[in-house]
Parts: sequence; structure tokens; C-alpha cells
Amino acid sequence: MSSITDKNHTKVILVGDGAVGSSFAYAMTLQGVANEIGIVDVVKDKTRGDALDLADATPVTYPTHIYSAEYSDAKDADLVVITAGAPQKPGETRLDLVNKNLNILKSIVNPIVESGFNGIFLVVANPVDILTYGTWKLSGFPKERVIGSGTSLDTSRLQKFVGQELDLDPRSVHGYMLGEHGDSEFAAWSHLTVGGLTMAELQKIHPELTDEKLQEINDTVVNAAYEIINTKGATYYGVATAAARICKAILKDENAILPLSVYMDGQYGVNDLYISSPTVVNRNGVRQILEVPLNDDEKAKMANSAAQLEKVARDGFK
Ligand code: NAI
Ligand code: 2OP
Repeated sequence: MSSITDKNHTKVILVGDGAVGSSFAYAMTLQGVANEIGIVDVVKDKTRGDALDLADATPVTYPTHIYSAEYSDAKDADLVVITAGAPQKPGETRLDLVNKNLNILKSIVNPIVESGFNGIFLVVANPVDILTYGTWKLSGFPKERVIGSGTSLDTSRLQKFVGQELDLDPRSVHGYMLGEHGDSEFAAWSHLTVGGLTMAELQKIHPELTDEKLQEINDTVVNAAYEIINTKGATYYGVATAAARICKAILKDENAILPLSVYMDGQYGVNDLYISSPTVVNRNGVRQILEVPLNDDEKAKMANSAAQLEKVARDGFK
């Protein structure tokens, strides 16, 4: 991680310049998160075109060097962000993508490692928990330096829907979607707070927040991607912004707590899997996984989510 210790210059290599990748590059450019962004894709004309187009934004955003890159450019990068992979078609789950996207992943991780890359991998392509595990295995990197975007997007969705219900700024909603980034994820209501009030306290002053309403919000979050995919075919702005947020926390050494897909070594009773938990991240990657003490219902949901992932991981990788 040569330049990650040189805080004056930060470099990101993005692999996958589709809807998610190009939106991510745009979010990074608008926020000035990195000094240098190299874009890799099998479709070279797209990376060249996007690099030129995005660079046109930099005179009114932040000075950022954006270019069409090769895997060898990852040599001195701080972060490699993987958004390459097929998205879901209407009716498909994220887990249905596993075989297709594991093959794509293999063609990416090996040349990145061969470049001499010694930074942090951030995996966004789906199924993100499985592909993050795959990246960790294929790269041989320490687990602290292989991270998946996990339920960061889903947590934003949870904040959005709770905020809408209470007519409050979603940033004032503090809580998490945990587990798989996928159908078995769940809202950890026992830890959600708004203005320091727990859900039980909120329910006293907001009688409309019934248990049925909370279940409805949970289900709306779980199904949010399907609703968007059924309308415009794919989701990309939300995840692109979530991924840029994670990159900022890493590159700016924030020690921020974000819900990320991280390697479990017994936390939540889960072993040898990537799954989402609140995690402290900084320029070295994962500093600490914060194991949230779940209630019995949430423990069962976490166990179910891990079991779903274990089944797929065993077929795909283990
Ligand atoms: P897309 O089809 O628009 O873009 C995929 C890109 O990957 C294409 O540009 C393609 O040329 C490139 N690609 C394919 N094979 C490659 C290889 N071997 N090397 C380099 N590039 C390669 O798909 P989209 O919509 O951008 O989605 C990308 C992934 O992100 C999907 O797996 C999708 O499910 C996932 N996603 C993840 C989210 C999350 O929260 N983790 C949210 C939304 C999407
Ligand atoms: C999303 O949650 C499809 O994983 C993608 O938007």
C-alpha cells in the first residue's frame, strides 16, 4: 500500500464500467474522494469514453486524474473496487448470479494480484458476500483488506423508509440491515435509535409504528431492489453512492462505522463466511467488527442468513 500511507495521493482502480461502475466513478468524481481513478473493463471504448466524459466534470468538482486503465495500473493503487459482473434480470435473485459472476471474478482477481497490488479490495458485484469471500480466497490477502459493500445500501434504504414514516431526515435514523445482502437480510430493530430513542420508546410516541408496520418496512427494504429492477432494469445510483462512502471512509482514514460484508471468525456464531455487520474501517481496511448483541429473533435471522450463504459458498468455493 505504497500510496495509502502517503495521504497526499490516493488512487483507486475500478473494475467494471457498467451501470454501477460508471455511477460509482461519477459519485467519486463529484465528491473528490480520490486523486486518481483508473477504469478497467473488457469494453475498452466504454472506459475511454467514460474517462474523457468524467474528466470534463473535474474543473467544477475536484482535480482528479481519470483514465482508462489496465490491470497492471493496480500495482500502486490503494483500493481496487470490483463492480464487474452480470446484474439480476427481473425474477432472478442475487444468489442466482453466483456461477456467472464467480467466473468473471476469477479473471479479475488474479491479474490484479499479479500486478503487485497491495491495497484493499472492495467488492460490490453480486452476490456480494460470496464474491467477497471468493476475492479473499483467490487473492490470499489478509481478511482485513478484503471488504464487501454488504448491507450498506440496504441500511440506507432502511434509514430512508423509517425517515419517511416519521417525516425525519434519514440521516437521523441510526440502525442497520444485517446479514446477507439479499433476500435473507433483516432490520436489527432492537438496536435502531432515532434521536437517542429506542424503537420501544418511539412506538410509545408514534403509535402508528406498530410491529406490523415495522415488518412492512423490513419487507420493503428487502424487496427494494426488485421494485427498481422491475421498473428500469437495474439499480445503480444508490449502491454507487454507498460504495463511494465506503471508499471515502477508507482513503480518508475515518475510522467510520459502516455496515460491511466482513470475514466472520465466530462473531454472531458465524464462521468462515463473509456477512454484514457494523464495522470500523480506516486506511488499513477493517479495524474492528462490532458484534451487535441481537435478540433471539434477530439471532435466528442471522443464523438463517448465514445458512443461506454457506450453502451457496460451499457449492461455489469452499
Ligand atoms: P452492467 O452489466 O451494467 O455492468 C457490468 C460491467 O462488467 C460491464 O461493463 C461489463 O463489460 C463488465 N465486465 C464483465 N466481465 C468483465 C471482466 N471479466 N472484466 C472486466 N469487466 C467485465 O451491470 P451493473 O448494473 O453495473 O451491475 C454490476 C454488478 O453490481 C452486478 O453483479 C449487480 O448485481 C451488482 N450490484 C450490486 C449492488 C450491491 O449493493 N452490492 C447493487 C446493485 C448492483
Ligand atoms: C441492490 O440491492 C441489486 O443488489 C442490488 O440494489
